[in-house]
Amino acid sequence: MSGITGSITGSFMGSGGTGTPAGPADKNTASDGAEHRIKVWAHRGASGYAPENTMEAYILAHQYGADGIELDVQLSKDGEIVVIHDEKIDRTSNGRGLVRSFTVKQLRGYNYNRTNPTHFHAQIPTLREVLEYVHDQTRMTINIELKTGVYFYPGIEERTVALVHELDMHNRVIYSSFNHYSIRKIQEIDPGARVGLLYSDGFIDVPKYASELGVNALHPKWIDLQYPNYLEDCRTYGLDLNVWTINSEELMRQMCQAGVHAIITNYPDKAVRIRDEYERAFARV
Ligand code: G3P
Ligand code: MG
Repeated sequence: MSGITGSITGSFMGSGGTGTPAGPADKNTASDGAEHRIKVWAHRGASGYAPENTMEAYILAHQYGADGIELDVQLSKDGEIVVIHDEKIDRTSNGRGLVRSFTVKQLRGYNYNRTNPTHFHAQIPTLREVLEYVHDQTRMTINIELKTGVYFYPGIEERTVALVHELDMHNRVIYSSFNHYSIRKIQEIDPGARVGLLYSDGFIDVPKYASELGVNALHPKWIDLQYPNYLEDCRTYGLDLNVWTINSEELMRQMCQAGVHAIITNYPDKAVRIRDEYERAFARV
């Protein structure tokens, strides 16, 4: 991935930003027990090294010291929340067809290692399995992206929130979606939920729009940080910036300088190293 033309100017200071020391409420505790102002979230798990959106990728993210994981959810035919990016299983598995046309049991009949075949076999996880693992064995945050852009999956928001509460993960989850109706629904179901907006390029006054919807965060592509006054407006409206997909070291450094809340990356090991270097240098100033 090439770097941003020029570079991102200015510095962002949301609730988890780098401009001032974060207060206790702003701090997540990473899997290694250390507290960091800039979080590293593994995109679809450590998907640069393991099949995306599989337990292998989440476990690896934890081992690499990620503060959190990002994952994508859809509904199976029998109403189970399953973790998979596409509406079809074709790209990531050895099967073909729509996720929603299979029961969980049927979905489990395929091998989901296609995005990293060096892993002999990988399973499609349910959200319950991932939440249980993260709850029991890590201190990571989970960014649950509701993939409701093509199929609206009636009931997915209610089921997801109920599961998150059942497993006592509501303080460690942030929901995001490109479908902002889904986010509004989450807000209605659980007014205390942390929510962020994903969106495409080119919209005007996105921070103002986000503020009017009362969300906590924006989840832009890295390229979107260049829009006029973007960082300043996010700071004005108190929005966290969780930026994707930051895979080059150059961009990781730029995100640290911009003071984003979270770097969403396929390579959490690299991002943790660069974030730690940056925070050490910042501490010396
Ligand atoms: O949540 C950030 C990123 O995952 C959004 O795009 O297509 O990778 O789900 P996508
Ligand atoms: Mg995603």
